Amino acid sequence: MRHLLSAADLDRATAVHLLDTASQMAATQAREIKKLPTLRGRTVVNLFFEDSTRTRISFEAAAKRLSADVINFSAKGSSVSKGESLKDTALTLQAMGADAVVVRHQASGAPHRLAHSGWVDGAVVNAGDGTHQHPTQALLDAFTLRRHLRGDADNPDGVGLDLTGLHVAIVGDVLHSRVARSNVNLLHTLGAEVTLVAPPTLVPVGAESWTSRTSYHLDQVLADQQPDAIMMLRVQRERMGGDGTGAGRTGFFPSPLEYTRAYGLDARRLALLPEHAIVMHPGPMNRGLEISADAADSPRAVIVEQVANGVAVRMAVLYLLLAKEKETTP
Ligand code: NCD
Repeated sequence: MRHLLSAADLDRATAVHLLDTASQMAATQAREIKKLPTLRGRTVVNLFFEDSTRTRISFEAAAKRLSADVINFSAKGSSVSKGESLKDTALTLQAMGADAVVVRHQASGAPHRLAHSGWVDGAVVNAGDGTHQHPTQALLDAFTLRRHLRGDADNPDGVGLDLTGLHVAIVGDVLHSRVARSNVNLLHTLGAEVTLVAPPTLVPVGAESWTSRTSYHLDQVLADQQPDAIMMLRVQRERMGGDGTGAGRTGFFPSPLEYTRAYGLDARRLALLPEHAIVMHPGPMNRGLEISADAADSPRAVIVEQVANGVAVRMAVLYLLLAKEKETTP
């Protein structure tokens, strides 16, 4: 593996190996001293053209816990706001000797361009591009699912296992969600079944050819199919144009209230799920829109744990991309 651009590029063995490595990383994070010397002397650049809280902090924590030097670059307040292109920004990073570039960009395909342009020599990690992919989110979701639903007393993290036999419902704004796309790819690779649940206006064209089923009826999916996990997606109002409310003239749904009635997770819907089922959300949440406070804060919600698992998964990704490469260099 030279770059991590798409969850679709991971085969089953590689994905399981990444999750197993993340388990080892997570174990080191339970120690008093969390820092490992593994990436000492290497430089990781976080290149964020789009807003982010947890993903950027998570990559930063991951790189620092592996002793890498971290440079955080955000487009706001940089020369990008003066019109500097991706290419010139990349050449600047290259001049600074970046061993890995973690990139988030509003344009689908930007990380791919960076990886294959020859502008940078380092490994490129996609931290979310447009509505396209967010592979480390899918990996941390798979890690969380495996730990809760495949692990047991002897093997709490489910090391070595995939997600065969699990059923995950992914609910909400699938149209704008790189998290949904990445999860559909990775969950299928790992053997899980996926049902997308969304209003017809928020189902992407072509979703019928994805490795998932689609339903427009949340109550029916919860009651009849009894999924093992429900992953709520944020309504991405900033990608809906118009007045930014996601309602009215943008036409994706009639009103926030009707969206919540049909597709929001609340205490009543939570009670329809099987007892072992877990509630996930990649964050940031719109509390009161796609998820109620009682659902978000219920004992079944693993939303905060997803964030913690993100650090271990990103440590594994940086380790496998950078430390392995070093071992083969004389
Ligand atoms: C997601 C993203 O940015 O794609 N968030 C995240 O990475 N934690 C989902 C979202 O913004 O809704």
